[in-house]
Amino acid sequence: MSRSERKWDHIRFALKNQEKPLSAFDELKFIHQSLPNISTLDVRLDHSVGELCLSSPIFINAMTGGGGEKTYRINKELAQVANDTGLAMAVGSQMAAIKDKTERYTYEVVRKENPSGIVIANLGSEATPDQAKEAIEMVEANALQIHLNVIQELTMPEGDRDFSGALYRIESIVRAVDVPVIVKEVGFGMSRETVKSLSSVGVSVIDVGGFGGTNFAEIENNRRERVLSFFADWGIPTPVSIIEASSIAGHDVAIVGSGGFRGAIDIVKGIAIGAEAVGMAGFFLQTLIEKGIDSLKEEVKTIHHEMAIIMTALGAASIADLQKAPLMITGETYHWLNQRGIDTKIFSQRCIK
Ligand SMILES: Cc1cc2nc3c(=O)[nH]c(=O)nc-3n(C[C@H](O)[C@H](O)[C@H](O)COP(=O)(O)O)c2cc1C
Repeated sequence: MSRSERKWDHIRFALKNQEKPLSAFDELKFIHQSLPNISTLDVRLDHSVGELCLSSPIFINAMTGGGGEKTYRINKELAQVANDTGLAMAVGSQMAAIKDKTERYTYEVVRKENPSGIVIANLGSEATPDQAKEAIEMVEANALQIHLNVIQELTMPEGDRDFSGALYRIESIVRAVDVPVIVKEVGFGMSRETVKSLSSVGVSVIDVGGFGGTNFAEIENNRRERVLSFFADWGIPTPVSIIEASSIAGHDVAIVGSGGFRGAIDIVKGIAIGAEAVGMAGFFLQTLIEKGIDSLKEEVKTIHHEMAIIMTALGAASIADLQKAPLMITGETYHWLNQRGIDTKIFSQRCIK
């Protein structure tokens, strides 16, 4: 199967993979505030993540490019949405265009459609420093994402089997490029030990990419004859992963959350437990393909509006305030954190002012 056919398979199967009846975000509950003492007009959504100044804490996470016309059109429309709504946007893995230059246009369109926005390049951890520089130059990127996708590769019939040396290669890239490097998972989450290792080699932003959203084990299992069913529910749920990661994050590393965010309340909860920004992929793709570009622009504007409403109810005028809002952690999320030695009372007993 060609790389370009595989890209389309991922999109097709990802669209079928968006129905999730249960969400770990339901196990986080805000403590109601009867005297929030602010107006919706006070609420500001702009925020800095490391060196990146974002007008919204939401970004369009890495999805596509490198699969000819169909992926060109998706990237073009996603970039138009980003341009119109002020969201940062990551492109899908650019290895396809590094290996086959005729695919460059499917990524370059993202910068053309959004000349002054925040665009993030993307490669896997097999990349060399020269390939990283080429990916950044291709879209005049403001940052570079390096994805870690061990479970996806192991499930992929034609996937990689050797993951040795990834941390060393990431360190070489961090030293070689002059934009911030964001290391991300693709839906299996990161433990605090992984976050520690990444921050020790100079990675300044970490997207924990937790379990609960688009599931690449399921997507790749659709493409296998013998299914690896043991990977279907493998991974650290997104809220757990954000809390684990931010429990050790210092001043030099920012934690970003992604994996299963579908609306304003999930995003607000993700930020309240420690994420500096939130990436969304599958839900945006589904809205774009099933409802069209205007519906996606509307959806983003509605999410921003609803975030302001929820933040008003909490008395949080800024993203920094929101990160101090008190909340209860219940159910499996509570048990998981407890077993990992993280005291959840920090969240239930704090206050904004
Ligand atoms: C169709 C599709 C293609 C993807 N391709 C990439 C990719 O090339 N590089 C990458 O880092 N992540 C890729 N991802 C993963 C997303 O960036 C994100 O980590 C994952 O989908 C979980 O977020 P979600 O639940 O909001 O979809 C892809 C996701 C989708 C849906």
